[in-house]
Amino acid sequence: MSTRTTLVTGGAGFIGSHLVDTLLARSERVICIDNFTDNYDPARKRANIVDHLEHPDYVLIEGDIRDRELVRRVFEDYKPQRVVHLAALAGVRASIDRADLYTEVNIQGSINLMDAARRFGLENFILASTSSVYGKTEQVPFKEEQSTDHPLAPYPATKKACEVMAHAYHNMFGLNITVLRFFNVYGPRVRPDTMAYMVADAITRDEEITIYNEGNLHRDWTYVDDIIQGVVAALDKPLGYDVINIGRGEPIRLGDFVDIIQELAGKAVRIRHAPAPASEPPITYANVEKAQRLFGYQPHTSIREGLAHTWEWYHGLEVRS
Ligand SMILES: NC(=O)c1ccc[n+]([C@@H]2O[C@H](COP(=O)([O-])OP(=O)(O)OC[C@H]3O[C@@H](n4cnc5c(N)ncnc54)[C@H](O)[C@@H]3O)[C@@H](O)[C@H]2O)c1
Repeated sequence: MSTRTTLVTGGAGFIGSHLVDTLLARSERVICIDNFTDNYDPARKRANIVDHLEHPDYVLIEGDIRDRELVRRVFEDYKPQRVVHLAALAGVRASIDRADLYTEVNIQGSINLMDAARRFGLENFILASTSSVYGKTEQVPFKEEQSTDHPLAPYPATKKACEVMAHAYHNMFGLNITVLRFFNVYGPRVRPDTMAYMVADAITRDEEITIYNEGNLHRDWTYVDDIIQGVVAALDKPLGYDVINIGRGEPIRLGDFVDIIQELAGKAVRIRHAPAPASEPPITYANVEKAQRLFGYQPHTSIREGLAHTWEWYHGLEVRS
């Protein structure tokens, strides 16, 4: 049996299940907490972990991070040395009318984890944050030290609150916490409320998709393998408290992103144009120099290559929901 134990919260989700693949391949023991919440079809999350369940070094805890006693028991029973905290309600648009629920899950859930971590002692704690904490800014590319005081919706506001609370936990208890701000992640198993999935789905079902600002929004889409590279490198290098962008550093125009998927599908998508809502920033754009300098992070996957893998995966899905 492996000697190193990592607790992955949200390990049945999109990014989490890829991380678990990588950690198990590195012969680590993985404890996954996930409550298979129905923000999208839980059957998709079950499918993500089919192979994990066969692995002798994998333990699944079906439970809710809002349950403080459960979180404490998991630390007591499995004594993880490291935590990657990914469990959250993600998605900017879905958060608009759900500030209360996002607060409970994302903020209180994160506090439960940090609190258990400091009581039981830990080598390193990785906290997933988001590029959307940068809000609407003309200061590009986004650098970690610039202001993140003006999030545009409840989701980034909850993530910002977690970043700040993480600093308090580091300061009070010496917990090593690295906050990683992920930029627009896509790839196989991507959440169905994200652009790559929605475009592929609209093409396949011959349905309309809403495109904001005539496609003139820019997003720093980052392939999931590159994100995992960043997470694992950060996990292996405790830094005290730090905040680090994990993106690609090459924003793509939304209209061009849609065009690539149309080319891969060999079919056009029906588009309904709409102005961008107040929750959508005009651009996300990562400066990744800090990640490069601190742990050699280097994104490798081009947008064409990444979308080709994503389309191939989408095409092979038995259930699309
Ligand atoms: N995908 C992106 O583009 C992106 C960008 C920036 C940040 N992030 C962050 O990365 C993390 C993973 O995102 P994802 O895209 O894989 O999302 P996801 O929804 O696929 O994964 C999150 C997982 O957390 C689980 N979960 C939710 N609430 C829970 C609770 N109360 N208790 C236990 N488990 C719970 C869900 O069931 C799900 O499996 C999130 O913290 C998200 O905010 C994602």
